[in-house]
Amino acid sequence: MPAIVVLGAQWGDEGKGKATDQLATTDPIDFVVRTSGGHNAGHTIVINGEKYATHLLPSGILTPGATSVIANGVVVSPEALFRELDGLIARGVEVADLKVSANAHVIASYHATIDKVTERFLGKNQIGTTGRGIGPAYVDKINRVGVRIADLFDEKILREKVEAALDVRNHLLTKVYNRRAIEVDAVVEELVSYAERLRPMVCDTSLLLNQALDAGQTVLFEGAQATMLDVDHGTYPFVTSSNPVAGGVCVGAGIGPTRIDRVIGVIKAYTTRVGSGPFPTELFDDDGIQLQTLGGEIGVSTGRTRRCGWYDAVVARYASRVNGLTEFFLTKLDILGAWEQIPVCVAYEIDGQRVEEMPMTQTEFHHAKPIYEYFDGWQTDISGCRSFEDLPKNAQVYVQALERISGAKIWAVGVGPGREQTVVVHP
Ligand code: GDP
Ligand code: IMO
Ligand code: MG
Repeated sequence: MPAIVVLGAQWGDEGKGKATDQLATTDPIDFVVRTSGGHNAGHTIVINGEKYATHLLPSGILTPGATSVIANGVVVSPEALFRELDGLIARGVEVADLKVSANAHVIASYHATIDKVTERFLGKNQIGTTGRGIGPAYVDKINRVGVRIADLFDEKILREKVEAALDVRNHLLTKVYNRRAIEVDAVVEELVSYAERLRPMVCDTSLLLNQALDAGQTVLFEGAQATMLDVDHGTYPFVTSSNPVAGGVCVGAGIGPTRIDRVIGVIKAYTTRVGSGPFPTELFDDDGIQLQTLGGEIGVSTGRTRRCGWYDAVVARYASRVNGLTEFFLTKLDILGAWEQIPVCVAYEIDGQRVEEMPMTQTEFHHAKPIYEYFDGWQTDISGCRSFEDLPKNAQVYVQALERISGAKIWAVGVGPGREQTVVVHP
């Protein structure tokens, strides 16, 4: 299986880090690749009880023998990159080989400044971004005033590009937002200071990955963010500024769609969301608090509490459709062990009508009320289960029911955060 995509099927934090790490340790994986987003991601990997969080780095950085790749579609803060690498090294981690695309766009300090200022100006309409400068960096890319990694090696060009990027931005900052202008010299000086350490990592990652696939090597594309946060297919405008869907992997890595063999959608056995925006199955009662508490639903990147709700099969079917999922990795089934009955949203009621598919308009989605079916709980600890047969009957029924209504088979189920706490349903 040479090219495998792992992506988020809900609003993020589904357990993509764990799923990626699990795949990378059970099969020999040659490359683990990030293709979109930046250090707005927060992926948790638990190895032998020890917890690691990756943000910009692919989870493969913890897998000796696999090369980690930050491909062209990612927005890279060199400061965040080295802070994260140094953090792992300080913990004694033997970090894997890392390659960074020469074409990836750079997040400079001014992108984070602009991210925070624009959010503040949006007031009650704010997106609830991570404040990491992701949106402004993608704006510069699309506006053709972005700085790319390769520019850090030519100070003259770099200065011209930073001047162009800051020209209008500084007018905005000083005249509209009432902030100090950003100095070109300081930005250039900071970015140039990363160049020497970056140089050996930088390459044409599209060429590298295509050659690897030609040679029959296995490449794992680790998604960040998720389908419902996709700028085209998510709950716009409450989304991130990139394309975390499967199609985005091709653009973000410079590989063709015919290369991809498996597309795995990671999905929680319930739903969570950080930041603003519609969320039909969101709970505002004790069940919501209990999911939040038992699931440890606190953001890895920002420390924000995640909003919680029941599993939404409309979202699952939508994710299956827009990503062409070949399978799901269902995580956090163990968290549902506390409930006598488990509701699952099978469709929406919108203005008195039963709706089975994601509604076409934002207004309809805002009005969507979940229609629930109820499943008997198993009320026992399943974190020690290692095969489907080990799971209590009611848990098996729950997984099989989700498989029937979610649009793709459930390949594996997570029963705990640890690498080994995985039950493979369809080997
Ligand atoms: P990601 O952004 O998709 O990689 O997910 P996060 O790391 O932000 O959040 C997922 C959280 O769930 C992390 O704390 C994981 O350690 C944890 N996790 C992943 N899979 C499972 C599982 O099957 N059971 C439990 N209890 N925790 C899990
Ligand atoms: P992982 O990879 C959950 C959300 C933010 C905000 C919106 C836009 O860990 O699943 P941005 O800073 O990207 O412009 O914020 O997207 N968001 C995430 N939510 N998990 C993530 O990543 C997220 N990355 C961005 O909370 O609502
Ligand atoms: Mg996360």
